[in-house]
Amino acid sequence: MPKGVRHSRMPGGRKASTFTLVLAMLLMLSFVLLLLLALGIFSLPINTDDAPKAVDLSSFFHKTVDNAAHEKREQWTEILSWEPRAFIYHNFLSKEECNYLINLAKPHMEKSTVVDSATGKSKDSRVRTSSGTFLQRGRDKTIRDIEKRIADFTFIPVEHGEGLQILHYEVGQKYEPHYDYFLDQFNTKNGGQRIATVLMYLSDVEEGGETVFPGAKGNFSSVPWWNELSECGKKGLSVKPKMGDALLFWSMRPDATLDPSSLHGGCPVISGNKWSSTKWLHVSEYKI
Ligand SMILES: *[C@@H]1O[C@H](CO)[C@@H](O)[C@H](O)[C@H]1NC(C)=O
Repeated sequence: MPKGVRHSRMPGGRKASTFTLVLAMLLMLSFVLLLLLALGIFSLPINTDDAPKAVDLSSFFHKTVDNAAHEKREQWTEILSWEPRAFIYHNFLSKEECNYLINLAKPHMEKSTVVDSATGKSKDSRVRTSSGTFLQRGRDKTIRDIEKRIADFTFIPVEHGEGLQILHYEVGQKYEPHYDYFLDQFNTKNGGQRIATVLMYLSDVEEGGETVFPGAKGNFSSVPWWNELSECGKKGLSVKPKMGDALLFWSMRPDATLDPSSLHGGCPVISGNKWSSTKWLHVSEYKI
């Protein structure tokens, strides 16, 4: 047997006392750790009673934010669906920000158009009957704040976004289901394909005006707001417009292929009117 091993077993030897010391220190460390655990200063990542239930749309963090006027609002995110990949960020915008965007856009609203996939040009259409306008990226502090928040939420740099589009839908106005990605060569020249969309609701809508994903996989009647949806809203997985909420969905899968389950539309407004803002995000920098 090697000498060293025999030495370490000798009681009273120098190696043995080092061993005792290490053991004592380990014991003390365990004791301190247990104490910290007991006092709740340190905790192990174990789910407690607020763990999401199977039928819940999984919720992430909750936090309360304060604005300049000391009005608190609670923010939390929710997974809406994995096919399409869609998430809701509650109270993403403050009431002031919503009204600010509406008032900024109001004098410049024009009839909305759609992209002609043969020519890549904008054209008038029956499938989209709203009116809208674009607000240039980074045009003022409020917009820069919102664009930074969108970048934080999506992990996509501010420079990959188009300017915010503000849309207004009156009773009967809608946007038939469509994709946000392009099927033409022209519109992908600047920034490449559109990868994701953040749709922000700037107003509540009394009835109708839902964002509907008719191609979503899963049981879309299990959403808690199912009974409040219009007939159009029940044709797919739907989100009810709520002032300040943001909906993020991806037009591309993580492997960079186009995701047809991202098909979505704006249901006709039945009562009230709908203001929304859209941020389209590209795979690379979108030059302005
Ligand atoms: C879908 O969800 C609803 C509500 O949770 C439930 O009543 C219904 O049975 C479900 N349908 C299917 C096919 O699982």
